[in-house]
Amino acid sequence: MQVIRVKNYNEMSEKAADMLAAQVKSKPDSVLGLATGGTPEGTYKAFVQKALQENFSLSELTTFNLDEYVGLSPQHPKSYHLYMKNHLFQPLALQPSQTNLPRGNAPYLEKEAERYERMIKEVGGIDLQLLGIGENGHIGFNEPGTSFTSRTHIEKLNPTTREANARYFENKEDVPEHAITMGISSIMDSGSILLLASGERKKEAVKRLLEDKNTREDFPASSLRNHPYVTMVADEEALAAVSKTDESSEKNEAKPL
Ligand code: PGA
Repeated sequence: MQVIRVKNYNEMSEKAADMLAAQVKSKPDSVLGLATGGTPEGTYKAFVQKALQENFSLSELTTFNLDEYVGLSPQHPKSYHLYMKNHLFQPLALQPSQTNLPRGNAPYLEKEAERYERMIKEVGGIDLQLLGIGENGHIGFNEPGTSFTSRTHIEKLNPTTREANARYFENKEDVPEHAITMGISSIMDSGSILLLASGERKKEAVKRLLEDKNTREDFPASSLRNHPYVTMVADEEALAAVSKTDESSEKNEAKPL
């Protein structure tokens, strides 16, 4: 895992946006895996600015998001569909046919999970997956204990995850109890992974990821140790508990574009 240390959230966002832009410029028909939450908001903002300024082509781009809350329609104000529309798809004028999220309000969720896996496969897989990390080490909505062999599936959210996400909802009881999420194995199939971490809240998870060498299902992010091309961009607060931050060549180098 290559670790890029940056000062703060803004620097992380700029760096991540540069990396996404480099991917899309070198391969205009890239398939990007995308994430939601507080962490990538700045990245999307910086990427939109860059794309509009530099005017590189996005017409061949395809995107697949990691997850969606179960029970929320795409129009629901707290849905990840709407988050993506507001932060990225609309500002970039991406066509609906270019963007994909699992449908949290599909009548048959297991069938929806299978359909989503099939769609990813049909386009030849994800080139670059953007990821955040939960305070409990979750990636996507894969909570501790999720099998490393999991594909897209329905996941029951941990109380701590629902609490962390309650800031986006009016009442914490409004946070859905389940999500449909790409599995660990679906994430691990991507060509390369760009993991972002910012802020004090993430420091224990980042420490465990970098310092505990065990790869265990009770800490989903540890699966990333088995991926050959992971780059983590983390800021000083997120790295604050790590005793040795010179991790840049811990195991693998960034995948050359
Ligand atoms: P956050 O969520 O970006 O809102 O902190 C990250 C995650 O839970 O994966």
